[in-house]
Amino acid sequence: MDFGLKNRLSKIFNPKTGKTVMLAVDHGYFQGPTTGLRDMKNIIPLIPNADCLFVTRGILRNCIDPKIETSICLRVSGGPSILGELSNEDIIVSMEEAVRLNASGVGMSIFVGAQNEDRTVSNLGRLVNEAERYGMPVLAITAVGKEMVRDSRYLGLACRMAAEIGAHFVKTYYCDDFHKVVEGCPVPIVIAGGKKLPEMDALLMTEGAIKAGAKGVDMGRNIFQSDSPTGMIKAVRAIVHKGATAQEAYDIYQKSKKSSAVETADTAMEKV
Ligand code: R5P
Repeated sequence: MDFGLKNRLSKIFNPKTGKTVMLAVDHGYFQGPTTGLRDMKNIIPLIPNADCLFVTRGILRNCIDPKIETSICLRVSGGPSILGELSNEDIIVSMEEAVRLNASGVGMSIFVGAQNEDRTVSNLGRLVNEAERYGMPVLAITAVGKEMVRDSRYLGLACRMAAEIGAHFVKTYYCDDFHKVVEGCPVPIVIAGGKKLPEMDALLMTEGAIKAGAKGVDMGRNIFQSDSPTGMIKAVRAIVHKGATAQEAYDIYQKSKKSSAVETADTAMEKV
């Protein structure tokens, strides 16, 4: 592995722990103005708590301060909306653009078991070919699709395929027997959070994934749709980087939620 690739990976995976808290805010590329991301200003305070921001170029250019210290992983696949056939994606951002935007990685979805499985998997191979010329790590995102059964057999298949094709790290969903998915995949795995869950459930999922060998999260809705997004990202961070239990992390979430409620009340009083 050359210097550039390793250096970029070290901007995503915190060298102190070897793990990462990626904040996923790319949902609009096929879902439009998703709840919690309607106004992208809402996510700005969360960014310093993330090791890496997973984002599209449009949001990066228009909504994100170029002075941020958090690294960028750029979503480079797209095409269909939530109303269409999701697997009909292509690569829509050039490697030159990713380099110009100072991305530390690029990410695309593969749709194993879906209509355009073969095209998305071949696209991953082409993206890796191109990315390696620039020392750019590639994140493959697996198990995206409305009707996919997200069990360890299917997720294990999709993650292993992504690694075999050359992805440098893989994002997938958590499931029972998640250790089997990790064991069968020779590159680091991070988990997506999926649909919004009660905060404790999302933290238990994070704890389970890290204990099973995941190297972090690339989490969106369970952070930015929480009643305390800052509390949630701090809580997730404690599990990923400090080995906190879900209960310890939940206490961090609650404390942060209470202190921001006090700050809001103080600000309201100052205005009276
Ligand atoms: C989904 O297509 C996107 O790649 C999201 O980045 C990914 O699903 C993670 O977000 P969430 O935690 O909301 O599932």
